Amino acid sequence: MRLKDKVAIVTGAASGFGEGIAQRFAAEGAAVVIADVDDARGAAVAADLERSGRRAIFCRADVVRAVDMAAMVQAALTRFGRLDILVNNAGLPQRPMPLETVPEEMFDRLYAINVKGVYLGICAALPALRAAGGGSIINMASTAGLSPRPGLSAYNATKGAVITLTRSLALELARDRIRVNCLCPVAGDTPMLRDFTGDDPARRAAMLATVPLGRFSTPQDLASAALWLASDEAAFITGIALPVDGGRTI
Ligand SMILES: NC(=O)c1ccc[n+]([C@@H]2O[C@H](COP(=O)([O-])OP(=O)(O)OC[C@H]3O[C@@H](n4cnc5c(N)ncnc54)[C@H](O)[C@@H]3O)[C@@H](O)[C@H]2O)c1
Repeated sequence: MRLKDKVAIVTGAASGFGEGIAQRFAAEGAAVVIADVDDARGAAVAADLERSGRRAIFCRADVVRAVDMAAMVQAALTRFGRLDILVNNAGLPQRPMPLETVPEEMFDRLYAINVKGVYLGICAALPALRAAGGGSIINMASTAGLSPRPGLSAYNATKGAVITLTRSLALELARDRIRVNCLCPVAGDTPMLRDFTGDDPARRAAMLATVPLGRFSTPQDLASAALWLASDEAAFITGIALPVDGGRTI
């Protein structure tokens, strides 16, 4: 049990990477708050975990709303008594298109969810993490922020911002014993993948061809990496942007 007695929040945990991370954390002994805007799926993920004897609750939370982020942290404290781990995973994809054709509202929405959402989540969690004597924050970035592909420039830039925010906060929060790291997955086999590839099988094949290990990432890959970063085994690791990418960014 690598997260025994820890309490974690995972945003965007109703689907994909977030769901996989929440399930793995719960299996490793953590109590988990499943935070998402998808009530039906989020509640189902939490209910499944509870049925199998894990500790989990669903909390409806939109990461762009500071009031929701505060309520999400409060839900962790009220139900489980403390907070040790925050995974800022919720994110919005972009369909491939030239930057100048990205509607301004879409650009703003990408930044609101992918960047401001991370900031709001961290601001809300800091008092509880400090009260716990430290903790682990894991932000979901992307290989898009390390080695971007054309046609996804707005999305790519949001993930670059997440990486810089992670590194910056690793310095700022070190004195509080709060570690801040991010994960950089290559294209993943989740519902989001369809947005990145459009309906173009050739684009999907082209993306796959750039991954030396020959497959897309999976929620299990991200769960394994997040588990390590969340656990005490990574006690001296802060400020890293860890590629989970089958060699794509080499
Ligand atoms: N799938 C990929 O190819 C890929 C690759 C690299 C990085 N990522 C990143 O991984 C993260 C998770 O992606 P995924 O592939 O699991 O996607 P997904 O679509 O399967 O899941 C995303 C979840 O986030 C939730 N969500 C969306 N907006 C929200 C909001 N405002 N507040 C709270 N929850 C919200 C959705 O309801 C959904 O449950 C994202 O940050 C994404 O950018 C994905």
